[in-house]
Amino acid sequence: MADSIDVLVIGAGAAGMMCALTAAQRGRAVMLLDHYGKLAEKIRISGGGRCNFTNLNAKPENYLSANPHFCRSALARYTPQHFVALLNKHGIGYHEKAMGQLFCDDGSEAIIAMLKSECDAAGVKWCAPCKVEEISRSDAFYVATTRGSGKQDKIRCESLVVATGGLSIPKIGATPFGYQIAEKFGIPIVKLKPGLVPLTFAPEDWKLYDGLSGVSLDAVVSCGKQSFRESMLLTHRGLSGPAILQISSYWQHGEALHINLLPDGDMHALLAEHAASKQLLSNFLTQWLPKSFSEAWCAQMGVQTHIGNKPLNQYSLQERKTIATLLHDWQVIPSGTMGYAKAEVTCGGVDTRALSSKTMECNTVPGLYFIGEAVDITGQLGGYNFQWAWASGHAAGEAV
Ligand code: FDA
Repeated sequence: MADSIDVLVIGAGAAGMMCALTAAQRGRAVMLLDHYGKLAEKIRISGGGRCNFTNLNAKPENYLSANPHFCRSALARYTPQHFVALLNKHGIGYHEKAMGQLFCDDGSEAIIAMLKSECDAAGVKWCAPCKVEEISRSDAFYVATTRGSGKQDKIRCESLVVATGGLSIPKIGATPFGYQIAEKFGIPIVKLKPGLVPLTFAPEDWKLYDGLSGVSLDAVVSCGKQSFRESMLLTHRGLSGPAILQISSYWQHGEALHINLLPDGDMHALLAEHAASKQLLSNFLTQWLPKSFSEAWCAQMGVQTHIGNKPLNQYSLQERKTIATLLHDWQVIPSGTMGYAKAEVTCGGVDTRALSSKTMECNTVPGLYFIGEAVDITGQLGGYNFQWAWASGHAAGEAV
């Protein structure tokens, strides 16, 4: 005999807990299952331990997807203000850091405790750690599980919600299980790749910069039609920092990044203005760039163009033009990314064209729902991913 429940949510992370508490508040009998021993580890480590739990400016344009309008409905029905109201109800302090990004004052544990207490108050049953062995569907879904103690159970549920997240940071419980469930039920997957991730370069392309780890600069980084102006950080293996994490979600293998190293200046005009100066180019550039970077960049330019690092008065008009172009459009081709071990999110996922944008239910498998990061909706850096987790969890929670 199987235990019977209205709704089984697999994955007790951000989206899963929001879905469970919303459904349970409607009077549904809900069980929340997770294979990992600790609750909502991604919330705990997020935002440097302070959880950037939403962004006040969240709108569909902040999300990547093969189906860009899909997120519109859920985001409109559960807004950042709804989540802020929940924090206010629990007396949790928060502050805006920059550009609408809201962080907890006292650490992300407060968000986990808040969601857990909302689930408990609504009567959600917990099943963790617990491994799903098999899922089948006939008159309802039947989920065979093994608890930590080795106890075997079969759970019967009318609605099955998959909230198992993406592939990033496997050491804290990420698995491809959600995608495997989708495949089992014939739901297509949009190709997966690490997002919000540092980019790497071939050692031979990076040897002039590999000693500059920790150096950061303000830059505009572009790829295709996307551009981000934020800080960029050099690492031993390549580039990181907010501007790079942002663009990494849009970058495809083989593409060049276009980096404007002097977003506020017109280098051609500045070089013309100082054409009589005896100052060395690399020293001149330290007005805008860190010295170590300026020297490495000039050395690399010498290798690429044979225009050496000379006093400004020794450059021809054509050379000044070339230098200005290279500074405003420094083109670099990453060899890859730091992968899921360092990625904040997984781009791609369950194809939204197979889901209802109102409820997150699969069009071809009634009763099966996918929410959160498992779905092909990826937010930019800045609290957008949690906002999607809350909004999609809430949308499904209202429907299951
Ligand atoms: P989430 O990953 O939260 O939860 C999935 C749950 O499913 C986990 O509890 C997992 O154990 C469980 N699970 C997985 N496989 C299972 C299986 N086989 N069986 C049972 N359970 C299984 N976003 C943001 O907006 N602001 C921020 O500040 C940050 N910061 C940040 C830092 C770092 C280091 C990372 C890695 C990520 C972020 N993010 C973020 C992204 C954010 O954490 C992420 O998008 C959400 O947690 C996604 O919520 P989900 O509920 O979909 O997945």
